[in-house]
Amino acid sequence: MTRTVYVNGQYLPETEATVSIFDRSFLMADGVYEVTSVLGGKLIDFEGHLKRLERSLTELGMEKPEAFDQLLDIHRELVRLNDIDEGMIYLQVSRGSAGDRDFVFPDPAVVKPTLVLFTQSKPGLANSPAAQKGIKVISIDDIRWGRRDIKTVQLLYPSMGKMMAKKAGCDDAWMVEDGMVTEGTSNNAYIVKDGKIITRQLSNDILHGITRAAVLRFAREAQMEVEERPFTIAEAQAADEAFITSASTFVFPVVEIDGTQLGSGTPGPVAKRLREIYLDESLKTAI
Ligand code: PDD
Repeated sequence: MTRTVYVNGQYLPETEATVSIFDRSFLMADGVYEVTSVLGGKLIDFEGHLKRLERSLTELGMEKPEAFDQLLDIHRELVRLNDIDEGMIYLQVSRGSAGDRDFVFPDPAVVKPTLVLFTQSKPGLANSPAAQKGIKVISIDDIRWGRRDIKTVQLLYPSMGKMMAKKAGCDDAWMVEDGMVTEGTSNNAYIVKDGKIITRQLSNDILHGITRAAVLRFAREAQMEVEERPFTIAEAQAADEAFITSASTFVFPVVEIDGTQLGSGTPGPVAKRLREIYLDESLKTAI
């Protein structure tokens, strides 16, 4: 099926949607993005994603796209036009195209941001086999830039990390800096020890996951203990459980790290429970 996508004010078949070859996201990775999940045709955590988008734009001194205040309507219209029940909506804003290549930012009064959105249909997203089975991760060095709190489209190293994991027969990679885990290639990382959920504190070192914020809130509401601090791969390998969170996975248990099986090698009860709570609660507030 040909998707209908959104580009700068227009809904178009994907085969007719175009962006300039001079677009700064193409030439300079000068763009930011968001991924919002859709369950039962409704958007999960939309407000959180919108707020983070606004923050990413501000941090990079990028103008808001003209349609910023209509983003909820655009998301909903794309869900409707593409008949999405379960899946994701990808949104990207770039600093636009100045009609040439130049390191210097173009004048925002002249060059307007490029706004692109498209849907990804993923039937069965809420019942993914990985949620039942758990995933295996490897560790790799974190050699990304120092502003990982900004959700930019510089995804080459995370892509390479996924490829390294694939080559090792695993599902994903956890990145390590100064001996401590930062996060997964496209998700936040957690371990569980003696019932306590441990995850790295927020800083410029990691993306401030929208799913992370919700999961930690639900965990605290359920009287689970949460500690926000860095941890090592060795500590993770000795943990009772581990898991990841993101808009596209919700909560996935991690059952193996660098070839070491965690516990019994099957998804642990804390990850399972957090996934259930997250899905239940998020569906209640989906819009
Ligand atoms: N990735 N850390 C990184 C590096 C990420 O790329 C992501 C999200 C997260 C989790 O953030 P959230 O809970 O807001 O999705 C953490 C998205 C899903 C992606 O790139 O496809």
